[in-house]
Amino acid sequence: MKLAIINGSPRGRKSNSNRITEWMTSVMSENTEVTKVFAVDICKNSTLLKEIQGCDSFLVIFPLYTDAMPGITKELMESMYEYKNIFLGKQIYFIIHSGFPEASQSIVVEKYTKLFASLMGMKYSGGIRMGGSEALQIAPDNYFGKKKLVYEKLARNIENLEPFDYEATEYLSRTRKRGVIVRFILNHMNLNGMYWDRILKVNGVYERRFDRPYEIKKKD
Ligand SMILES: Cc1cc2nc3c(=O)[nH]c(=O)nc-3n(C[C@H](O)[C@H](O)[C@H](O)COP(=O)(O)O)c2cc1C
Repeated sequence: MKLAIINGSPRGRKSNSNRITEWMTSVMSENTEVTKVFAVDICKNSTLLKEIQGCDSFLVIFPLYTDAMPGITKELMESMYEYKNIFLGKQIYFIIHSGFPEASQSIVVEKYTKLFASLMGMKYSGGIRMGGSEALQIAPDNYFGKKKLVYEKLARNIENLEPFDYEATEYLSRTRKRGVIVRFILNHMNLNGMYWDRILKVNGVYERRFDRPYEIKKKD
């Protein structure tokens, strides 16, 4: 079986999306031939599509960005649409994950993925909406023991060309309330703010964090 994993994260190979798919591919049998493509390599888009055109199944994984999908993910999916004959009748799975704990934030973009599959004439075989994924960057694998096992189960679903297991989907898509201590620390010590401020600084955009590039300024 030939599986294409389409990673839509702007962080590419260093993304949480990639970490999730590594959990999955680590348990796949050697009969499953995996081709990974990254939307960050979008300038080579036509080559990307050539790489995956012979595959039987497709897993698209991407993070939620401002309640939607990253622009590069959408661009890649739209370029797939231009070559829809290649994908007709094939199986497609989606994993959408987000920083905030409420997986329900991704409901709207999940509808887009279902519509996409139907417009492509592909078999929508399951979709995960998972919250709280930014923690993947900082915590070791054993912190996510149960989630990792559930992703391994999904990997086997893909290998068997079957839909994602219902209970596994429900488990991952559940909103998890943070414990009292964690909430106290996050709220009172501003750890969340400090974490994201550090990322802004690393990328040299901290001073521009309040920019509003699309604001329509009133004329005097
Ligand atoms: C520009 C930007 C916008 C984001 N918007 C949202 C959002 O609307 N809702 C949310 O829950 N998380 C949001 N996040 C958090 C990401 O979904 C989260 O960090 C995810 O784990 C990133 O995955 P990746 O490493 O695969 O790119 C945003 C992150 C960035 C950098």
